Parts: sequence; structure tokens; C-alpha cells
Amino acid sequence: MNVDTTSYGRVIGIGSYLPEKTLTNDDMAKIVETSDEWITERTGIKERHISDPDKDTSESMAVEAAKRAVADAGIDPKEIGLVIVASTTPNVLFPVLSASVQAAVDADNAMCFDVNAACPGFVTAFVTAQNYIRSGMVNCALVVGTENLTNYINWEDRGTCILFGDGAGAVVLKAETDIEYTALMRAAGKRGECMHCESYMQKGKEKTEEFLKSNYINMDGQAVFKFAVTEVPRIIEDLLAKTGTSADEIDYFILHQANRRIIESVAKRLKQPIEKFPMNIEKTANTSSASIPILLDEMKKDGRIGEGKKKVVMSSFGAGLLWGAFETEI
Ligand SMILES: CC(C)(COP(=O)(O)OP(=O)(O)OC[C@H]1O[C@@H](n2cnc3c(N)ncnc32)[C@H](O)[C@@H]1OP(=O)(O)O)[C@@H](O)C(=O)NCCC(=O)NCCS
Repeated sequence: MNVDTTSYGRVIGIGSYLPEKTLTNDDMAKIVETSDEWITERTGIKERHISDPDKDTSESMAVEAAKRAVADAGIDPKEIGLVIVASTTPNVLFPVLSASVQAAVDADNAMCFDVNAACPGFVTAFVTAQNYIRSGMVNCALVVGTENLTNYINWEDRGTCILFGDGAGAVVLKAETDIEYTALMRAAGKRGECMHCESYMQKGKEKTEEFLKSNYINMDGQAVFKFAVTEVPRIIEDLLAKTGTSADEIDYFILHQANRRIIESVAKRLKQPIEKFPMNIEKTANTSSASIPILLDEMKKDGRIGEGKKKVVMSSFGAGLLWGAFETEI
């Protein structure tokens, strides 16, 4: 394989999968004490896709999104040298999800591994894939984000159950010599307690009511909100300073879809029009590591990206606390 060591990957294929079943805010109001008005005003969410227990797993959704991305790229899957699947909610510990995806798309020449970086999982996997391409080790990579978060929801906790949805998204990256790409990744493990979910499988742990509650997503919503509205604009500003780009030059800021108010706050801080911040949170809610590639797929289908070069920043944040951002052309 002859790879120019100054290459980075360009997104040449995008795919996504969303489960058929949806729950509207009015449906949520039948489960917990809430209302369409409250959820819409505080989050921007109107409905979310919910996995079908007979059909959808993190693995099956990843496979479907990956197949669509490879078909969209129009490549021979044997060209793929790396498959990374980001997921916080894998239905199997092993074989790892990336190996299942490799098998399903016939990427027989690829190395595989999964990453668990909570909501910034896709950004983390994308940045990792770019580093493999940059090193010259691989020429083409398949990066997937997949989540079955509604498995981990406490349906009695109105502060969290309204926020999340299920789905998967994938991109194919192919090395090119003339592509701009720069990333920044950060973490604050010391502040991690504000989002917490324990594994059910722990030797010696009595399955008390308290322990069972800890196996669901537990969150201090206000602390996470403050973290996001402070750190996301800061990392984007630092990224733009590093690349010497002004925010005005960016066509789209493609952010993790967690909360409309968080995205609006970032737009305000960067002094950019909200139209430059694509959103689909209204229909998908927060799909964690799947949110950015699902949104990218929607943008490609409606023509916002795909024809001509667009300068974009993608950024995500979440449990850990972890966050990251990169600037590239798409
Ligand atoms: C979760 C979130 C929407 C809550 O909004 P908020 O404005 O911070 O609301 P608070 O938690 O302060 O709660 C305010 C009140 O609304 C109530 N409330 C919480 N969820 C509610 C719901 N679904 N429906 C109606 N009322 C609700 C609370 O009980 C509280 O009532 P009280 O004042 O009587 O105690 C918001 O904090 C948020 O989005 N945080 C970020 C979370 C996130 O994105 N996490 C994922 C990161 S990857």
C-alpha cells in the first residue's frame, strides 16, 4: 500500500439507521409527569426513535448504518483498512461490534476495535481513524456510532427519560493529500460524577433497589448543561485559533444533539447565526455517539453537504466528562 504520510481522510460515504418506532412527547406524558410544552421548551425535543427489542440492537443498527455508508461511498469494502465502532451501549462485550460490522460489510482487510467514550464516541473514533490514516497505516476507514440508550433509561425518572433516543450512523473516510483537518480533545475525569451509569454485572454486588437504580442513566442535568455551554464554545474557539480560521469562515457547526438550548448558547457565544448549526434533535432526541453521523446523513440527503467543499466544525461532549472538536472539509 502506498500512502502519502501527509494524508487525512475525507468523508466519502455516510449512512444511518433509525428504529421505526417513535415516542412523541405526548406519549412520554403518559409514562411520567411531564408535558410536550415542558420538554420542547427545555430541550427542543418533540419525539425520539425507540429500538424494537425483537429487531434492533446496537450491533444490528451499526451494521445497517455501516452498510448504507459503504454503499454511499461506492467503494470495494476490501479497501477498508480500519473499522471503529463507538458505543456506550453494546449488546455484546465480544466479539466487539466492529468485528460484527467488518463481517457484515465484507471489510475483510480491516483491523477492528470499539471505543467507549460516551456521547463524544463518534468524534473520538473519527479522530482516532484520522490518526491511523495520517500515520500511513490505513488508507480507508469505516467509523460508526451506535446506541441503544433506551435500554438504560429509568422510565420513572422524568429528568432523564425524555432526553434520549436510539439509532446509528456511519461514515467512510478515504485518504486524500489536500484535505484540511485539525482536532482538539479534552477530558475532566474529576468532574465525571454528574453523569453516571454502573454495569449490572458486578461480582458480589447485591441487587438492591439502590444498586438497580445505579444501572440506569443517572444525571445532574444542570451540571451537565453548565459544563456543555462553557466547554463546547471554549474548545471551538481554541480550535479556530489553532487553525487560524474565523468562525465566519465555517459553513456549519455540527454539534452533538443533546439540547437545543445548548446549541443556541454555543451559537450566541461564537456570534454565529443559528442557521449554521444544523439540528435534528426535534425528531431524534439525544442518540449519544450516533447523533453526529445521523445528522450528517440527513444533511447529505437534503443537499446541505455533498456537492462542493464545505468547511465544518464537529464537536461533541458527554459523560466522563469528555469533549472534543475538529475542523475539516466535507
Ligand atoms: C435535563 C434538563 C432538560 C432539565 O432542565 P432544567 O431546566 O435544568 O430543569 P431542572 O433539572 O432544574 O428542573 C426544574 C424543574 O423541572 C422538573 N422536571 C424535570 N424533568 C421534567 C420533565 N420531564 N417534565 C416536567 N418537569 C420536569 C424538576 O423536577 C424541577 O422541578 P422542581 O423545580 O419542582 O424541583 C437540562 O438540565 C438539560 O438538558 N441538561 C443537559 C443534559 C444533557 O444534555 N445530558 C446529556 C449530555 S451528553
